[in-house]
Amino acid sequence: MGRKVTFSHVARAAGIAALAATAVAVSGCTNAGSSSTSDPIAGKQLFVKNCGSCHTLARAGTKGNVGPNLDDAFRVARQERWGDDSIRGVVLGQIGFPGKGGVMPANLVTGQDAQDVAEYVSAVAAKPGQDAGLLATAVKAAGTGKPAVEKNGVLSIAADPGGQLAYVSKTATATAGPIQIEMPNKSGIDHNLAIEGTSIKTPIIKSGVAKATGTLKPGTYTFFCEVPGHRQAGMVGKLTVK
Ligand code: HEC
Repeated sequence: MGRKVTFSHVARAAGIAALAATAVAVSGCTNAGSSSTSDPIAGKQLFVKNCGSCHTLARAGTKGNVGPNLDDAFRVARQERWGDDSIRGVVLGQIGFPGKGGVMPANLVTGQDAQDVAEYVSAVAAKPGQDAGLLATAVKAAGTGKPAVEKNGVLSIAADPGGQLAYVSKTATATAGPIQIEMPNKSGIDHNLAIEGTSIKTPIIKSGVAKATGTLKPGTYTFFCEVPGHRQAGMVGKLTVK
């Protein structure tokens, strides 16, 4: 996104200002800036589930790269001393009116959920440090599940159900020979599972259970998601075959 170029930052800041104006105009509410009823903890959870597969936001731990890095997007606004209220307005505007023909779907979250997401993003975007207190534990770390173990020729490795770019388990074991791979996916985000160095790969699915079959020799393999950006974001693990 050419964010190292100052001119593009200026252009981006101007775009964000225009978005802010839209957000206030459409809210039809004189109290649009109030955050008294918003819940940033719910907002963080909703952000990770609905936004994080496309956007990097350091404090949320998300690493999506389909859309702009949201820390970068709001860095200039922070330098220009925009308040959280203004940034909240931009985020709300973007959620409701992401622009025609763009990649971002409109109204991924609505009503109070949208308020909560905007509250969280405005509280953390382009701010150094880490979330503290209850915010720190609002989202369970991905990839911390027990190692996946093959049973009766079937090895099941689920995609993170909460929308993080990770599998539930980072390690898996299987015995050599014919195998069926299953990847349950409850996230609503496109994922698959491929085993590097073999022809074994499941189809890419948004929901349900993706399956693939093949034969594995003893060795150590890497399994990963082939959707662009997902492997780099952490959707990868190690499979040991004995
Ligand atoms: C499918 C991918 C995708 C999802 C999911 C998504 N976005 Fe976006 N987002 C984008 C893209 C791509 C852009 C760049 C503009 C465009 O193409 O619409 C963008 C732009 C933005 C911007 C403006 C940033 C800037 O630099 O101007 C904000 C703020 C934003 N998104 C917030 C969110 C929030 C909050 C959510 C969750 C409710 C979300 N996005 C979900 C893809 C996504």
